[in-house]
Amino acid sequence: MLSIIKLKSRIIIWLCTGIILFIFLVGAGKKTSITQQLDAPENPIYLEFKIPAGWPKPPANIYANNRLTEQGFQLGKKLFYDGRLSKDGHFPCASCHQQFAAFANYDHDFSHGFKDAFTTRNAPALFNLAWMTKLHWDGGINHIEVQPLGPLTSVIEMAETLDSVLYKLKKDSVYPKLFKAAFGTTEINSQRMLKAIAQFTGSIISANSKYDKVQRGEAKFTLSEENGFALFKTKCAPCHKEPLFTDNSFRNNGLSVNPFLKDYGRQRITNDKNDSLKFKVPSLRNIMLTFPYMHDGRLYSLSAVIDHYRSGLITTQPTLDPLLVNRIPISNNEKNELLYFLNTLTDTSMTKAARFAQ
Ligand code: HEC
Ligand code: HEC
Repeated sequence: MLSIIKLKSRIIIWLCTGIILFIFLVGAGKKTSITQQLDAPENPIYLEFKIPAGWPKPPANIYANNRLTEQGFQLGKKLFYDGRLSKDGHFPCASCHQQFAAFANYDHDFSHGFKDAFTTRNAPALFNLAWMTKLHWDGGINHIEVQPLGPLTSVIEMAETLDSVLYKLKKDSVYPKLFKAAFGTTEINSQRMLKAIAQFTGSIISANSKYDKVQRGEAKFTLSEENGFALFKTKCAPCHKEPLFTDNSFRNNGLSVNPFLKDYGRQRITNDKNDSLKFKVPSLRNIMLTFPYMHDGRLYSLSAVIDHYRSGLITTQPTLDPLLVNRIPISNNEKNELLYFLNTLTDTSMTKAARFAQ
């Protein structure tokens, strides 16, 4: 009798273990199929993120959790050029970031946004973003996927809400198909939208200017360009470091404080007095195309920029970069040569590439 009871309870225990195992396995199976769905595009064409020869590796892999595919890139491009991401339809990302101006805003110190508002900073050029760990002039944004939330929801830029943008995309006849192609299902959510935009913006690489061709031995500088380059290496490159032409640091280059905007730059983010008036060192690639210059677009020509460094910059601000306390002595002849060199940083193969065009 006792042994029958023992046997029965053993069977029950085995049965229970079996059922638990079964539930566990089925559950696990389901889980993998859901993640596979989310991560796998329909017929993925995987793209390789190519680091130009001789360049450093990006400090972090921006696509570690966002595998680059042709479908994701194309969806991101469509979103970048789509006015419906803004409240009144007039302000796609591309309204302030124009391809022919290396994705800066041509001839605008500040950019137009919703209801005739203006941005309070100059729209930066967009390229080589994968090498940038901190975005915006003050470095206030630390990931390319998060960045679009800023302009999308800013009342002076696109003035939208995420819910409303997603609603518009879901109603569209094409977007559900594009999301399916890029992410495996027709589901449209903010994460997918932001990942796709990052696939586009992060893929814009500028590495084919005359300067690059000279580095690769495919072209030669003229004598003036060569002299300008030599001068650049001693006077500008400590901050505008090759090959990205920025060292991605934040520095005060001696601009006066704009009395209306009172923009103290990096200090706004860190709350540290030592960061007062420091702004991100911008890349000088494509600099001929991205005027006006500086975080508030106050300088309208490169000639004015060079005059700033040689005679204009204010030397009394306590956070002025130590490299600039004596300004940068540059003769008129040297100034011309420097301009010739800066001209070699223009990369029309990027600014005219059909791949990045609407
Ligand atoms: C109304 C004009 C405007 C629109 C629209 C706009 N931007 Fe910008 N963008 C700016 C300005 C101005 C900044 C600089 C902000 C700052 O430094 O505070 C900027 C900065 C950026 C940066 C950082 C670049 C860097 O070098 O740090 C990225 C990336 C960017 N924008 C992408 C986008 C994307 C993607 C969209 C669309 C979702 C978009 N922008 C829409 C004006 C705009
Ligand atoms: C001490 C570091 C430092 C040195 C040296 C330096 N710069 Fe800059 N540069 C900066 C910073 C920081 C900014 C952005 C300042 C701002 O907008 O508030 C800047 C901005 C610029 C801009 C505007 C770019 C844009 O997209 O608006 C140009 C052009 C420029 N520098 C050229 C030069 C040249 C040419 C030299 C050498 C003669 C030089 N810089 C030397 C730090 C430096």
